[in-house]
Parts: sequence; structure tokens; C-alpha cells
Amino acid sequence: MKKVLFVCLGNICRSPAAEAIMKSKLRQLGKEREFVVDSAGTYGGHAGALPDERMREQARCRGYVVDSRSRVFYPSADFPEFDLIVGMDNQNVADLKRLAIHAEERSKIVRMMDFFPEKTPYQEIPDPYYEGPEGFELVLDLLEKAVDGLLEYLQRNE
Ligand code: 4NP
Repeated sequence: MKKVLFVCLGNICRSPAAEAIMKSKLRQLGKEREFVVDSAGTYGGHAGALPDERMREQARCRGYVVDSRSRVFYPSADFPEFDLIVGMDNQNVADLKRLAIHAEERSKIVRMMDFFPEKTPYQEIPDPYYEGPEGFELVLDLLEKAVDGLLEYLQRNE
């Protein structure tokens, strides 16, 4: 059983979409029982809220149900619980590293775009919150491929 936690700032746009895409792909592969997939935010201001309606709608058009409730990243519980803690952008990764208290915790932190399977100018999943619809489409485009790369990585390291 592998446990993966996606982390962004608010846990209402990028990381809940990553969670939904990962769960959908695992379901298609018949592997959903082999994984625990969750998401959280480094900022807890949206805790309890459903994901951003713009993300929900645009993800729905691609067949993903993005409906997990926002929660804050909780270091003392989440570092021991998860095998891989996947930050969406460099700030998320830096914030997570600051919260880690020893090397084993730090070693679980990775950046989503490091799993992207193609050459790309993007090193981060960009924050879409203040963007228009194209910002959300870009996030979904990047996440779909990055999740494919992450699944390949997890299969190689089974
Ligand atoms: P997320 O997007 O980190 O992808 O969930 C954001 C959500 C909320 C805020 C910023 C980014 N905010 O400033 O409240």
C-alpha cells in the first residue's frame, strides 16, 4: 500500500484536482486499492470548503469529480502517514521542507513537475486562483501528464 499526499496552498484548486485525476487513473488501472490518495493545503484558510467551482466545472468536462473538502497540511500526522508528499509549486515544496523536522520527513517531499514525462518549460503547477479559465485548463493539462509520470515512477519503485 502506497500513500500519496498532494499539497498546494489553499487545497481548493490544484491539489484536489491532482487527487481526483490520480484516483481516476488508478481506478482505470484497477489499482485503487493499492493506494491511499489525499490532498491538503499549506494555508488552512479554506478548511472545510469544497474545491473552487471553476476547477470543479473544468475538471468535470474532462470526466473528473473534484469534490474533496479542503484541509490544512498537518505535519505531525501527515509526515509519518504518507510515503510521498507532492508539492505543486516551489513555494509549496519550500514550505513543506520548512515544516519537516528530520531527514526522513524531508526525503518524502517531491515536486509534481519533476514527474512530468516530456520536455516542458514548466517547472511548477502554476497557481490558477487569480487567472481566467485558461489558467485552470493549463493546470489540468499539466496534472494529467504529471500524474501519468508519477504512476510510472510508483510502478518502477514498487
Ligand atoms: P490552490 O489555489 O493552492 O491551488 O488551492 C489557491 C487557492 C486559494 C488561494 C490561493 C491559491 N488563496 O489565496 O486563498
